[in-house]
Amino acid sequence: MTGANKPANSQWGGRFTGGPAEIMRRINASIDYDKRLYAEDIAGSKAHCAMLVAQNILSPQDGAAITAGLDQIRSEIESGSFVFSAENEDIHMNIEARLAELIGPVAGRLHTARSRNDQVATDLRLWLRDAIDRLDLEMRGLQRALIDRADAEAGTVMPGYTHLQIAQPVTLGHHLLAYVEMLGRDRGRLADCRRRLNESPLGAAALAGTSFPIDRFASAAALGFDRPAANSLDAVSDRDFAIEFLAAAAITVMHLSRFAEEIVTWCSSEFGFIRLSDAFTTGSSIMPQKRNPDAAELVRAKTGRLNGALVALLTVMKGLPLAYGKDMQEDKVPVFEAVDALELCLAAAAGMVRDMQPCRERLRDAAGQGFATATDLADWLVRVAGLPFRRAHHATGSIVRRAEALGCTLAELPLAELQGVEPALTDAVYDVLDPTRSVASRTSFGGTAPERVRAAAAEARKRFLE
Ligand code: ARG
Repeated sequence: MTGANKPANSQWGGRFTGGPAEIMRRINASIDYDKRLYAEDIAGSKAHCAMLVAQNILSPQDGAAITAGLDQIRSEIESGSFVFSAENEDIHMNIEARLAELIGPVAGRLHTARSRNDQVATDLRLWLRDAIDRLDLEMRGLQRALIDRADAEAGTVMPGYTHLQIAQPVTLGHHLLAYVEMLGRDRGRLADCRRRLNESPLGAAALAGTSFPIDRFASAAALGFDRPAANSLDAVSDRDFAIEFLAAAAITVMHLSRFAEEIVTWCSSEFGFIRLSDAFTTGSSIMPQKRNPDAAELVRAKTGRLNGALVALLTVMKGLPLAYGKDMQEDKVPVFEAVDALELCLAAAAGMVRDMQPCRERLRDAAGQGFATATDLADWLVRVAGLPFRRAHHATGSIVRRAEALGCTLAELPLAELQGVEPALTDAVYDVLDPTRSVASRTSFGGTAPERVRAAAAEARKRFLE
């Protein structure tokens, strides 16, 4: 099918005699997704228009007509009465076509000293800047939920793991604060990205700049950019700001997926460390006893989408010669998808943190299993009996073997058994074999002792929430 009997596009079709083939229209159109940029597109157009008037490139009357038309289009879009058309390809041309319907040929003056290339680059930066600000608030909200919980569970003893083998007792509050630190770095990465993306492409025009006496500093300032982008070719052709965002987003959701995985395992009957309420679980259509942590599983799985988005845009941009290429139209879907998925994940994670009920007894019991206080025993031999650590480690290993053979915990071993292995041991050692005492002793900076965790939670409030 050809487009020979169809009209050419009214906005760029001057040198064309026929219209595009149906498949050309379909592959070319981005309006289905880039309509999300409407508010940024209109803001960009208004800033550009005001600058053109201030520079005497556009008359004040024409400027006023264009501005009023743009405002009306914005309310039409927001009220749902605006008719988007694929014939007009993208959001920029949809808006300009409607502007022409509303105010006549004067609409055509808006595109003076501008191209869709600098326009779309500007729109996406503005959109992403807003999204980053929203995400920062949501990440902060999750940090708040975690810190509140950490404070409440500062003294809740649980097993700490390495290799998913019980390692040493820790506190639940300490464990939750680990995620607060990760999110703090995630927020830092987004803040860096925001700082770097906040330069205005507007006025770079198609790629080379323009012969009109425009003021790029003025339009940049009007849109809240720190400065105009310094090189017009770079301004229209790079999408590293979006890739940087996607990388930061992928790291964030990777963190969330680790937490989600812990929620999934902690909810299982084998662990039984926490309970989620009906609000964050679902039932099974066949097994009546089930209570599935679907929200956590989906947070874990959304990582796939975010990683996919990053790889998609890296691949789109790889090897593209300067300056703009239509390939770049494919930048939007990954960015929108990543923002949507990340917002959902952050909200679900915060919801689960507020919802979860720790099973404190079960956590404590589990901390007494797996010889979790073996390191405390070895440390005691060094600290109290003055043994070299290597010898203490070896003796403790033999004691663990003995407890294993007798089927008891370290705390349950009779003193005679302990002394049979290491005569330096006394009654006083039982103090450190108790998981609660074990965590209480870990008062080093950044350690798991309840008093440390309470102080760390207070510190985290200052660092992240004020
Ligand atoms: N819809 C296009 C995009 O998203 C706008 C820019 C089109 N520029 C062009 N020279 N055809 O990239």
